Amino acid sequence: MSSRPGLERVLVLEVARVTEAAAIAAARWRGRGDKEMADKAAVDAMRRELGRVHMKGRVVIGEGEMDEAPMLFIGEELGLQDGPEVDIAVDPLEGTTLCAEAEPNSLAVIAIAERGGLLNAPDMYMNKIAIGPGYPEGIVDIDASPGDNIRALAKAKGVAVGEITVCMLGRPRHKQIIEAVRATGASLRLIRDGDVAGVIWTTDPGETGIDMYLGSGGAPEGVLAAAALRCIGGQMQGRLAPELHSEKERPELIARAKKMGIPDIRRKYTLNEMASDDVIFSATGVTGGSLLDGVHFRGEFAETETVVMRAKTGTVRRIKTTFRDIGTKFAPV
Ligand code: FBP
Repeated sequence: MSSRPGLERVLVLEVARVTEAAAIAAARWRGRGDKEMADKAAVDAMRRELGRVHMKGRVVIGEGEMDEAPMLFIGEELGLQDGPEVDIAVDPLEGTTLCAEAEPNSLAVIAIAERGGLLNAPDMYMNKIAIGPGYPEGIVDIDASPGDNIRALAKAKGVAVGEITVCMLGRPRHKQIIEAVRATGASLRLIRDGDVAGVIWTTDPGETGIDMYLGSGGAPEGVLAAAALRCIGGQMQGRLAPELHSEKERPELIARAKKMGIPDIRRKYTLNEMASDDVIFSATGVTGGSLLDGVHFRGEFAETETVVMRAKTGTVRRIKTTFRDIGTKFAPV
């Protein structure tokens, strides 16, 4: 356990405000087929809201490097610069295509941590494995085969392998793991996008039906999901996956990772190495899904649902918020 004092509790509400604003802005673009504009709306709103928080914030996971992203770029300093020093990981719109096509499960997501508490992961693929809380430490391992991991989890849960459900992004690159999972007799839920939610689902299998998350997705999303699990509990490992990028991209990605403090790109990261000490995580639904309801617009009102949680206390809050007079605050597109 760390002896650091932890984050100020008032920040819990502040970060909830940040994802609420991003979700409302992105929701204006639901189903309009324009994921860039949806993302931009979320980024603008999130940045504006972060600028009002009493903190000395620094973006460690954001929209890209300074030369490729004008806002929420890695290294950008945010907040009123009069509070605690925090590191910030953002995904203003997680599931841009889901939002653009009005499909379920797009979210606005943020995590903040004490300085140095979040892995500074480059924007590249990461292999991930995650399970929920309540199991002995180390029963699954990213280096074990999918079959061994599924059998170990089934044994620990006290159920037959056929009663385990694995969640994974449906991607051609997952062909082999998909076959390996199917060969065990476990059930597989392939999702189109949104693996932050995919990992979080494992924390409540009774409700979501999902026991394990497996496969590759974005590394930034991996760190955000680890931040969530650090608050709710659960196990997760991640490893950057340069092999999933073209040969041309690889040297640049490896160099970028080095610059960000990752000398060994093949290192296996545990949950606590991706998100450590006190962490606050917040997600607000943009389109409705099984984790959160989406934004509802009712005339001059907007309603949001947010889950916000904190590692130090383990408190998980679900907040339903009604915003009034949204025409002036969040102008329609
Ligand atoms: P975007 O919000 O950037 O569209 O990301 C959606 C997502 O599905 C993530 O949840 C996931 O980590 C990543 O894309 C996977 O990348 P890819 O689509 O290349 O498999």
